[in-house]
Amino acid sequence: MTAEVLAEHRTIWETKPVLRAVYSNYYRKIVSWCREGKSLEVGGGSGNLKEFTVDVVSTDIAELPWLDAVANAQTLPFSDASFANIVMVDVFHHIEQPRLFLAEAERVLEPGGRLIMIEPAITVLSGFFFRFFHPEPVDMTADPLAEITPDPDRQPFDSNQAIPTLLCSRYREHMGQEFPALKLVKIEWFDFIAYPLSGGFRRWSLLPAMAVPGVLKLESLLLPLIGRWVAFRLLAVFEKAANGGAKKISG
Ligand SMILES: C[S@@+](CC[C@H](N)C(=O)[O-])C[C@H]1O[C@@H](n2cnc3c(N)ncnc32)[C@H](O)[C@@H]1O
Repeated sequence: MTAEVLAEHRTIWETKPVLRAVYSNYYRKIVSWCREGKSLEVGGGSGNLKEFTVDVVSTDIAELPWLDAVANAQTLPFSDASFANIVMVDVFHHIEQPRLFLAEAERVLEPGGRLIMIEPAITVLSGFFFRFFHPEPVDMTADPLAEITPDPDRQPFDSNQAIPTLLCSRYREHMGQEFPALKLVKIEWFDFIAYPLSGGFRRWSLLPAMAVPGVLKLESLLLPLIGRWVAFRLLAVFEKAANGGAKKISG
């Protein structure tokens, strides 16, 4: 089922110019934060990161011909300190036990390496839209760092769109305490016209691809003023401590 959905996503990615225009902006942002070295794409789906940078290992939980490996974010099959970057687009809010993934990210990143994610942002405007016009739930009462008992019936596309926003706002301090080696070095609230009008990975769009550059320009003028209230997307960059997060031993 997951493989079928991802194959459908890949077809849409290849044939929907407005989606490519909107997401190219996402990947350009991501690449601008990548450190030199090997990047791991987690939940790669269509495996798009490779179109925008080199030295990428693209993975997902389903085996697909265009991906390099099968990898569950909660138990990454890679050795310690083996990647300069971990990149994910719209994946973190699908992970059942985010804290297991954060521990894995901390482990497989090299010192100074970065976890870079683009996820749904829950703001006043997007919260209304996501609650009433999007099939995935928004539960702002969840604890993104909670210990979760795995649900045997859970599907890979089950989600809570609020998880990334909660981690980067209400639970930011808690994240710093639980994962002190992963420091939040960048949070950007962006995209409130292009993404919702594009229809994302659905077949419809209310925006022609040729209008995207102009819309992004308009957004870049308005976002510094109103981004935190209207953004549909957030970019979060966590950087692993240069000393690898080694604990200080006193005495
Ligand atoms: C909304 S899709 C995003 C796919 C792709 N990144 C994109 O932007 O087109 C969510 C992806 O997360 C993957 N996923 C869900 N749970 C996962 C897990 N525990 N580990 C790795 N990937 C997971 C799904 O298989 C799916 O490819």
